[in-house]
Amino acid sequence: TADVRQLLLSRIRDVSDYPKPGVMFKDITPLLADPAAFTALTGALAGLCAEHGATKVVGLEARGFILAAPVAVRAGLGFIPVRKAGKLPGATLSQAYELEYGTAEVEIHAEDLGRDDRVMVIDDVLATGGTAEASLGLIRRAGAEVAGVAILMELGFLGGRARLGPALDGAPLEALLTV
Ligand code: PRP
Ligand code: MG
Repeated sequence: TADVRQLLLSRIRDVSDYPKPGVMFKDITPLLADPAAFTALTGALAGLCAEHGATKVVGLEARGFILAAPVAVRAGLGFIPVRKAGKLPGATLSQAYELEYGTAEVEIHAEDLGRDDRVMVIDDVLATGGTAEASLGLIRRAGAEVAGVAILMELGFLGGRARLGPALDGAPLEALLTV
């Protein structure tokens, strides 16, 4: 609702020139520190999991974990981490992706997802879409279906939604806020 969006927006702090000159950083720590706002956020994201028939919640390290774990609990679903490379002990699937400078790599435990799963991917911010795109690749390679991607905030001017289009393959991209 508009009230929830207004509450969430009011608890996100703009920090200019962080982490480097010219970048406006969206700091969600005031939102996390406010129990009413954090509860409204996890409730809205859990509602999207139910609406789209998710059976598992995937969170993207690191900030996505903070949101996805309570969302999974509220939605009554299992939580699966997508981690930065080298952190998971079991058999993993890995996916490299482009950053503004250089590349990064994310991994998932292959055994955590299978053909019967419909996965909702949760993260805080969609910027260029590279992180979410890589996670969708992992989910499909694990054999699971994508229920959707649900994020707190979409930075519309960076074109992440368009980049994510092919990987979504018709699944919804739900952004609670677009800035
Ligand atoms: C940030 C943010 C998203 C990602 C969005 O994570 O939390 O996960 O960037 O950018 P993209 O759409 O261009 O991929 P980051 O990797 O900076 O670090 P984190 O570990 O703090 O989440
Ligand atoms: Mg992140």
